[in-house]
Amino acid sequence: MQMKDTCAIITGGASGLGEATARLFAESGAKVTLLDRDEARGQAVAAELGGTFVLTDVTSEESVQNAVNAAVAAMGKINTVVNCAGIGTAEKTIHKAGAHSLEHYQRILNVNLMGSFNVARLAAVEMAKNEPTEDGQRGVIISTASVAAFDGQKGQVAYAASKGGVVASSLPMARDLSREGIRVMAIAPGIFLTPMLMSLPEEVRQQLAQDVTNPKRLGDPREYASLARFICECGYLNGEVIRIDGALRMQ
Ligand SMILES: NC(=O)c1ccc[n+]([C@@H]2O[C@H](COP(=O)([O-])OP(=O)(O)OC[C@H]3O[C@@H](n4cnc5c(N)ncnc54)[C@H](O)[C@@H]3O)[C@@H](O)[C@H]2O)c1
Repeated sequence: MQMKDTCAIITGGASGLGEATARLFAESGAKVTLLDRDEARGQAVAAELGGTFVLTDVTSEESVQNAVNAAVAAMGKINTVVNCAGIGTAEKTIHKAGAHSLEHYQRILNVNLMGSFNVARLAAVEMAKNEPTEDGQRGVIISTASVAAFDGQKGQVAYAASKGGVVASSLPMARDLSREGIRVMAIAPGIFLTPMLMSLPEEVRQQLAQDVTNPKRLGDPREYASLARFICECGYLNGEVIRIDGALRMQ
C-alpha cells in the first residue's frame, strides 16, 4: 500500500510511538485519525498534522465504535490501524503487601491486549468494505507488543502477559482476515525514548542504553514509525512479529 492511499487510525496517537507514527504517516501523504484518551495533546497533534482526533478509550466497545465511525466520516475509509495505546506497570507476583493485585493485572490486560483487539476487530469490519487492490488487499493492522513478550523482567508479569497476547494474536488474526485481504502484524519495540522514559534521570537512561547491544542508545520513536510505514508498504509481510531493539535481550 502506498502512503498516499493510506487512511490510518492510530491509537495512542497523542504521545510517544503513536505520535511519531502519526507524524511520519502524515508527512508521507497519509490521512490520519488519532484515537487517544488525552484530549488536549491529541487535539494539538491532530491539528498540526491536518488530521482528526477522536477522544477514545480503547477498552470500550462504544467509544471505539464511535471513533471508527468518526474516522470513516473524516477520511472516507480506514485501511490501516496502528495500535499504540498502552500502559506500563511494575508489580511482582508476590511482594511485602501480599499477592499481585488482580485488579491491576486485569487493567493492564484490558488496555494493552483487549484494547488492541477491540480496535482491530471493529476497524476490520470497515476495512472489509474497501475495494480490493489488484492483489486482493483491503488493509493492514499493526499492533504494538514489546520485547517483554519474550524476555519479561521482574515485576513485569502483567505487562509481559499482555504483550505476549498481542504477539500470539498476530497469526490467528491474519488467518481470520485472509479472506478479506487484511494483513495483521505486530511490532515488538525494545526501549524507546518516549515521554515515559524521558521522565527518568539522565544516568538511568544512560544505564538502559548500555544494555543495548548496538547501537548503544535508546530507540528513536521515528525508527518505530518508519518500521510501521514499511509494514504498510511491504504487502508480503503478514502474521508475524518484528523486534526493533538494537539486539537488546533483557536480563
Ligand atoms: N516506549 C517504549 O520503550 C516501549 C517499549 C515497548 C513497547 N512499548 C509499547 O508501545 C506503546 C506506546 O508506548 P509509548 O512509550 O509511546 O507510551 P506513551 O505513554 O507515550 O503513549 C501511550 C498513549 O496511549 C494512550 N492511552 C493509554 N491508555 C489508553 C486508553 N485506554 N485509551 C486510549 N488511549 C490510551 C495514552 O494517553 C498515551 O497518549 C505501548 O503499548 C507500550 O506498551 C513502548
